[in-house]
Amino acid sequence: MSTQTPPRYPFAWTPPMQVPEALRHVHDSSAMEVTLPSGDVALLVTRYKDVRALFADKRLSRNIARPDCARISKDNDLFMDPNIDPDPPEHTRVRSLVTKAFTARRIEALRPYVQQVADELLDEMAAGPQPAELNEAFAFPLPIKVICKLLGVPAEDRDRFRGYVDGFLSVTKLPPEKVGECRQNLWKYLGDLIESKRENPGDDLVSELIRVRDDEDDSRLNEHELHFWTQGLLIAGYVTTASQIGTGTAVLLHRRDLVREIQADWSLVPSAVEELLRTQIMGSSVGTMRYAIDDIPLSDGSVIKKGTSVLLSEEGANVDAEVFECPFELDIRRKENHHMTFGAGLHYCVGAALARMELQVATETLLRRFPDIRLAAKAEELPRALGGFMEGFTEIPVEW
Ligand code: HEM
Repeated sequence: MSTQTPPRYPFAWTPPMQVPEALRHVHDSSAMEVTLPSGDVALLVTRYKDVRALFADKRLSRNIARPDCARISKDNDLFMDPNIDPDPPEHTRVRSLVTKAFTARRIEALRPYVQQVADELLDEMAAGPQPAELNEAFAFPLPIKVICKLLGVPAEDRDRFRGYVDGFLSVTKLPPEKVGECRQNLWKYLGDLIESKRENPGDDLVSELIRVRDDEDDSRLNEHELHFWTQGLLIAGYVTTASQIGTGTAVLLHRRDLVREIQADWSLVPSAVEELLRTQIMGSSVGTMRYAIDDIPLSDGSVIKKGTSVLLSEEGANVDAEVFECPFELDIRRKENHHMTFGAGLHYCVGAALARMELQVATETLLRRFPDIRLAAKAEELPRALGGFMEGFTEIPVEW
């Protein structure tokens, strides 16, 4: 290790609309040391080919509840649960049960509902005062309502669980006692939900997982795993998508030329959504912490030593000039946009298809409903979240 303190990670989004400047210099080597919010040091792997390969490499363990593994936060055991084995073959067994319940048919059947919710929310926004705040009017309620419908969670509980989830995902925002309280409350809330669904099952994903748990032998899905995955789906199911809808839209509205291009040709919506996903991943890669259980060679000839804490940099991979032409340009017509924003390999995002569908519906509906929608604040003054897991804009005032 070098004697200098490695740069702080996540990198700063200054100016807020642009991919962090630090990412322009990360591909000279395969990896660099960074200092996490906890003060611990980890190895950030930045080149596309390395990141992609490592997402599928069993020599990188996702079990980071180890005494010598770097911590993301001093105050929060993010992504650590000693009762869950997050590596193959255990992880693969449970994941396959969840992905089986998460069928393409179930996702596609949600499309009319997503459209209906988007229309209703924008009607409400139109009837309200200007400027409106896009996160609270649209970006959060849309995926929250959708994940509630998918999981069978009562939508009226959303203020309650949002508070808990906010604490659950705190990196430096909240003190450890508050984080612990939120984590306990969320676990209890989900336990009650599972029990009530056991008594009154519905046509939702949680009821489906309960059926798998109760109808089959215990080796398929134990009670703790059922609870853990329900929690993961609820959290992952809206926080990221909401952040991406809000912040991606803000970036788009900052570029009127691109908005006009989309409005002249709606078939550009999917590629625009992918490009915003590539360049505006919501914050950083603190969610991809791994631990090397063996030596692993990288493409530049260096070696990740056994016992190293590793972060797989999706945002670094997404701006690798070896894969993406003019990587710092926002090109809404980009073809072959195989970005890493949903990860890859062993833990590839279970909800990627759902998130894509929501992002497409949200973008098109907003730009059709409000053809002249624009930011009601200077782009450089939009605040980004600090101290949480997500780093999207916290307030996005818009007018139309
Ligand atoms: C824009 C939205 C989203 C982004 C950027 C995103 C990103 C990611 C990434 C990068 C991973 C991999 C983490 C790792 O390798 O350690 C992941 C995993 C996961 N995502 Fe998403 N996600 C999004 C939306 C969703 C939605 C809508 C759901 C559920 C409805 C979801 C559920 C999950 C779950 C359960 C995992 C864990 C998979 C596993 O460990 O095998 N995500 N997501």
